Amino acid sequence: MQKILILHGPNLNLLGDREPEIYGTTRLEDIDARLTARGRERHCEVRSFQSNWEGALIDRIHEARKDGTQAIIINPGGLTHTSVALRDALAAAAIPFIEVHLSNVHAREAFRNQSFLSQLALGVISGLGARGYELALDYLLEEK
Ligand code: DQA
Repeated sequence: MQKILILHGPNLNLLGDREPEIYGTTRLEDIDARLTARGRERHCEVRSFQSNWEGALIDRIHEARKDGTQAIIINPGGLTHTSVALRDALAAAAIPFIEVHLSNVHAREAFRNQSFLSQLALGVISGLGARGYELALDYLLEEK
């Protein structure tokens, strides 16, 4: 069975309430539930993890090296634009990943235009709201 890990970075636990005009009204648990169900239909185990702590996300990526995770879908939140350590963890794990952003980071403040992760990503989806996670999952399910 294929195993895919969904990682959500800082502040994404507030989805639904947090700046809904930018991030939409779908809650994180609904996104995760949809992805789990979609995976189950296709005989794929989808597991999700959210943390507001950079180190916890890094630890979870290290764990993924040993738990059979075959691909990662990650929305790193603000860490996208700041975290060399998160990038290094993904590089060390050498697990293919897709970077997802709910908002179009290229149409916002200049500091959001840079991602420390994109260079290593299989692909980047930005600006398609919660649908972006589903498109990323569909891609991974089709490719394997
Ligand atoms: C985000 C975009 C980031 O710039 C921001 O810090 C987030 C969410 C997005 O999903 O659009 O927390 O990753």
